[in-house]
Amino acid sequence: MKKTLVIWVAALVLCQALQAQIVGAGKAVDPYKYTIVKKGTFSKAAVSSAHPLASQVGAAIMKRGGNAFDAAIATQLALAVVYPEAGNIGGGGFLVGRKKDGEIVGLDYREAAPAAASRDMYLDRNGNAQLNLSQNGHLASGIPGTVAGLFATLPYAKLPFTQLVQPAIDLAEKGYVISAREASGLNSARESFLKYSTRPTAFTKEGKWKAGDTLVQPELAATLKRMQKDGAKGFYQGETARLIVEEMQRGKGIITEEDLKNYTAKLREPIEFNYRGHHIISFAPPSSGGILLAQMMKMIESFPVSEYQFQTVKSVQLMIEAERRAYADRAEHQGDPDFWKVPVATLTSDAYLKQRMADYDPDKAGVSANVKAGQIPQSEETTHLSTMDAEGNMVAVTTTLNGGYGSKTVVGGAGFLMNNEMDDFSAKPGVPNMYGALGGEANAIAPGKRMLSCMTPTLVLKGNKPYLTIGTPGGTTIPTSVYQALVNLIDFNMNLDDAINKPKFHHQWFPDEVSVEKDFSAETKKQLEAMGYKLKERGGIGRTEGIRILNGKREAVADKRGDDSVAGF
Ligand code: GLY
Repeated sequence: MKKTLVIWVAALVLCQALQAQIVGAGKAVDPYKYTIVKKGTFSKAAVSSAHPLASQVGAAIMKRGGNAFDAAIATQLALAVVYPEAGNIGGGGFLVGRKKDGEIVGLDYREAAPAAASRDMYLDRNGNAQLNLSQNGHLASGIPGTVAGLFATLPYAKLPFTQLVQPAIDLAEKGYVISAREASGLNSARESFLKYSTRPTAFTKEGKWKAGDTLVQPELAATLKRMQKDGAKGFYQGETARLIVEEMQRGKGIITEEDLKNYTAKLREPIEFNYRGHHIISFAPPSSGGILLAQMMKMIESFPVSEYQFQTVKSVQLMIEAERRAYADRAEHQGDPDFWKVPVATLTSDAYLKQRMADYDPDKAGVSANVKAGQIPQSEETTHLSTMDAEGNMVAVTTTLNGGYGSKTVVGGAGFLMNNEMDDFSAKPGVPNMYGALGGEANAIAPGKRMLSCMTPTLVLKGNKPYLTIGTPGGTTIPTSVYQALVNLIDFNMNLDDAINKPKFHHQWFPDEVSVEKDFSAETKKQLEAMGYKLKERGGIGRTEGIRILNGKREAVADKRGDDSVAGF
């Protein structure tokens, strides 16, 4: 059963109707009139992403013979146009996929620090961290990885890149109608775009954006066409690279042509573990997401969580204490594995995790100041998409600019936003980044190093067969959102809709507080406070997208917390 929500009736003037067909995706995608579809059950293939047009593009590509990897590429490219807040070609991300023959693919296309970056680059002469520089403008950007990631995904896809990028080109060239949420986002970022970009951008105009306006991005369309013609070189070399470097030079950024030319996506072995009869596959460092997920789930596995029941004080307290301990380990032990030896095997071993929970007291709130990282011998704006096809391939991709609209620097002449991912490094030990996360030596800045992420694109197998693809944006709340969605499904036997949309909570060691969504149980809140927990109400946690196989069909769900939408057939 589809539950559709018509968000607006677009003014369909004749000329728009004539333009409405997105050539690369057929008539299925009308950028001037579309609806948000929160859930759907499809017999063959499905996509769940942060924007209805991007999900429709992915589904249309599979209808034309593409597989889940083709859909992941085309959906990401469409998101780079219709979801400028986080969809991107100026950022980076991680993909975990499972081919129909069982092969697991882990692609790291996280941004990297430029060659001229240095450990103390964000400290002033008194040693104080200047987080405005790691969070906004030209110096905040790492070398973008997304385009390298798209081309590294291509060998697993079936259709040529020229076809996969065409819908995004059409959307950028002809424009698409924006929602009230998007209009409000662009209006709030207006002053930042003007401050941190050196050339006029498509994102600012005379007066305010409103729902129903059409956003056209001709410079971005030209950049996508260069990629269509010259492949990855159409971004990392030639005209686009020149435009990026010129933008950097105008704004005192440090990314060079050499940095762009040398960037490569890397294959990584995912983190895999079992939890109550399910096999879970998630991302390895330089994302901390997979290890955090494994640690939190394995720390609670020996407890009868389903008996404790959903969001009672008993189940929430146990889950918080696992979160606290896992995030303490993250700060000390996780970083780019090409620069820092991450003790993956120990951090995820049963013996270590049992010992981490040895001081767990079910009657008392833990105190982060007393919980150190375990002893080892020796923005919140990101976006997630899930795709599943009829052949049995499934893909989870989380990609990001870091904060909403990244560094707010639009590359002059090339029309896309750069990331502010340098803030995900630890600018100074003990100084929290924009997500309040702490870090130390493991995540210090070094040239070429990839900043530690929390992105947690995740696949689940049941009986060694594809079962679920899931993930979410949300900075440090990413691993805890995926953790809770999985516990909701597996321990509390919820359907996917409830598993994703029920209220969430989050603890990340420091600050020593539990964030809860507004609709979190008032009774549980009261009981946690009585035990000594400090609770803080906050806006939505994550925007989770998931697809699972249920009775042979693809059940797709898009989070209620945004314009997120599913598509399929
Ligand atoms: N920028 C958010 C993350 O990578 O976790």
